[in-house]
Amino acid sequence: MNFELTEEHLAVRDAARNFAQNVLKPGVIERDREQKFATDEIKQLGELGFMGMMVDPKYGGGGMDTVSYAIAIEEISKVDASVSVCLSVNNSLVCYGIEKFGTEEQKQKYLVPLAKGEKIGAFCLSEPEAGSDATSQRTTAVDMGDHYVLNGTKNWITNGSSASIYLVIAQTNPELGHKGINVLIVERGMEGFIVGAKEDKMGIRGSDTHTLIFNDVKVPKENRIGEDGFGFKFAMKTLAGGRIGIAAQALGIAAGAFELATAYSKERAAFGKPISHHQAIAFKLADMATEIEAARLLVYKSAVDKDLNRNYDQSSAMAKLYASKVAMEQTVEAVQIHGGYGYVKEYHVERLMRDAKITQIYEGTSEVQKIVISRGILG
Ligand code: CAA
Repeated sequence: MNFELTEEHLAVRDAARNFAQNVLKPGVIERDREQKFATDEIKQLGELGFMGMMVDPKYGGGGMDTVSYAIAIEEISKVDASVSVCLSVNNSLVCYGIEKFGTEEQKQKYLVPLAKGEKIGAFCLSEPEAGSDATSQRTTAVDMGDHYVLNGTKNWITNGSSASIYLVIAQTNPELGHKGINVLIVERGMEGFIVGAKEDKMGIRGSDTHTLIFNDVKVPKENRIGEDGFGFKFAMKTLAGGRIGIAAQALGIAAGAFELATAYSKERAAFGKPISHHQAIAFKLADMATEIEAARLLVYKSAVDKDLNRNYDQSSAMAKLYASKVAMEQTVEAVQIHGGYGYVKEYHVERLMRDAKITQIYEGTSEVQKIVISRGILG
């Protein structure tokens, strides 16, 4: 077994780390406070190739493996998880979904600008009454022959107002249950498509999370991805890769908090010596480092499963379940190590603690990951 990263992995890590530390960090506290989307910074990330990292270069992507992608998401999440979720959704849900299951025309029209970072994508599955229970879609896509008429509401949509290409999951044949669900590519500006209210969130406040409303939106038939009724399987297959991205995000949040806590513990003195010299703090750092490394190995394992075309439903669920737990627990520890300073915004760890919570909720709650994992064990 080879645990070595390649030259390419190390180059991606350095590029993402430099960008995060030099470009994202200076404005991250303000973006969090003001709920400001990092428009310019994400544009730059697109120009550097981070929006379509795994897409085939013939469609404008970077042609990289999933390990490179996970490394980039980790580095960016150490500093700004609001930016990394935008990247994660664009790369592993929207670009992947169109590249893997779309037609050549859909790839030319939609994937190319998404992969180049010229446009941003959103993935629209959750509804007011269909979160974990994703088969209970109330949004309808009525088949009118050469087009669908889309009606309904989607909730908590990442990139809700910054996106211009939306993958919308909707029910066409309710009597067929999940086999009656389709996925349609909806463009910003289609008549009857309204970007609704923005959520005022606990964390990832720089990410634009919106309600979307569809009132009789006419969507051409050629915008359906896959065969009639493929929409639910599309969502499940795509989310398996999305969960690697969110696991890498959780890993980055934990690792970022750990790095800050380690540095602080060496500088801050109490009872006549740096607090890192007190066993109470040193043992916390030891636990944090061990759990973060275990999370990293699960993330890489799942990324390698995907790159080797092995089934990664289970490993991505395990990576997300574990990494998000580590993120939540270790960011709390990082605040504790910082003491009173940890409770104020200037020291960054309180934001990382708030940001960590969402990784246990979106792209499948921890409980949903346990459903996926236990079904894999029990059949
Ligand atoms: N690949 C292919 N097919 C799959 C699959 C997979 N990974 N998982 C399930 N399926 C298929 C099943 O085989 C079944 O098909 P058949 O009947 O033909 O066999 C069908 O899908 C239905 O599957 P289940 O019976 O397992 O469905 P279920 O109702 O029991 O639900 C679930 C399973 C795992 C709970 C699923 O509903 C789920 O993942 N829910 C969570 C949804 C989610 O992650 N939402 C996140 C929103 S997106 C988001 O957060 C993005 C963002 O903006 C950050």
